[in-house]
Amino acid sequence: MQTLINKRILLGVTGGIAAYKSAELVRLLQEQGSEVRVVMTKAATEFITPLTLQALSQNPVYTELLDTESESAMSHITLARWADLVLISPATSNFIAQLAGGHANDLLTTICLAAQCPLAIAPAMNQAMWGNSSTKDNCKTLLERGLHFFGPADGLQACGEEGSGRLLDLESIVNGISSVFETGALTGKHVVITAGPTREAIDPVRFISNHSSGKQGYALAEAALEAGARVTLVSGPTNIEAPRQAQVIQVDSAEEMYVEVQKLILDTDIFIGVAAVADYRPKTVPERKIKKSEVASNATWLLELVRNRDILQSVSNSPNRPFTVGFAAETDNVIGNARDKLTHKNLDMIIANKVGDTTVGFNSDNNRTTVLWKDDQQELPIMSKAAVSSKIIALIAEAILKDKDG
Ligand code: CTP
Repeated sequence: MQTLINKRILLGVTGGIAAYKSAELVRLLQEQGSEVRVVMTKAATEFITPLTLQALSQNPVYTELLDTESESAMSHITLARWADLVLISPATSNFIAQLAGGHANDLLTTICLAAQCPLAIAPAMNQAMWGNSSTKDNCKTLLERGLHFFGPADGLQACGEEGSGRLLDLESIVNGISSVFETGALTGKHVVITAGPTREAIDPVRFISNHSSGKQGYALAEAALEAGARVTLVSGPTNIEAPRQAQVIQVDSAEEMYVEVQKLILDTDIFIGVAAVADYRPKTVPERKIKKSEVASNATWLLELVRNRDILQSVSNSPNRPFTVGFAAETDNVIGNARDKLTHKNLDMIIANKVGDTTVGFNSDNNRTTVLWKDDQQELPIMSKAAVSSKIIALIAEAILKDKDG
């Protein structure tokens, strides 16, 4: 991560339970070669002591706006000018509201207002607070002002509730910061990603679907955005929030997904098929609910299915095809099956992952994958779906660059 060497990161810590993770974040940033200075809100000092962060950052920790001693050493304006990037992690809902409102009532808000460098925030809060429309409006305002958002992630929260609002894993935050300094490996590119499951109607109340959560596709969308791309997500039904800067086209069935993708092909530079598309759909879908009495033998019901069109293959075989990437979710002979799909689906790259293991893959936050292309492959360790995504996007950018040079 060359991009972080000698970078001056001002880490703003606000008062949430995830504040304790700042200690590790300081260490990770330093490991990448950054110099870190820490500013804490008063509430943050209730969760982690300034002394801990001072010892780790090897710099004084700033907490007061009107402290003559620290102001004479480094004023809020000097601190704002010193930074190459201001990162607020964790950012509470209150701090996000203050930022959106342009407040300057403590040291950190004042620095954010005075800073002319990029500002990034890693929100962490209860899922209901994150889902609240005030928070959503505030985030929208900040996004429109060009702030970078890292997370939040989904999962179990400190309060015992489950949902979106956890601090993004630190590795992904560090990757995100690194990508802010990159000139945008995919700047000017349009990335189209299919994500989530599809639903194949049996009748108006029943459907055939699968366990795909959409997490991997949405994480890839986030990583592509961070690399500077314009992103369109063609998504089946999921329970997760799409990255705010992505254009989202919601679909239900494989056929709807196929139709939406066809409309986009000519304007696509990179296509990534992550969706778990149903291979078959019921041959006929009646307008009325099917009654048991209508099933020929009510002990067994034979559904006749017909094959869906392959969306990925339709893209890879299109004239002037985009760089085309597929996913292969396999239970056995993972690499062999993935390499077969790479060839017969005419892909530029395929990401193989083993499914059936509950610690990784479908529905999990982690994934263990191998990325394969024509003449090579690279096995990735178990990583969060966000970290896997950054890596995949970096490999795609590298391959495109090589294609251009070659
Ligand atoms: N895919 C697609 N359209 C389909 C089926 C699959 O775009 N109708 C894409 C998926 O998004 C994924 C890749 O093809 O990127 C592999 O899908 P997978 O279901 O694993 O492979 P299949 O081709 O369906 O092969 P099989 O079911 O035999 O494993």
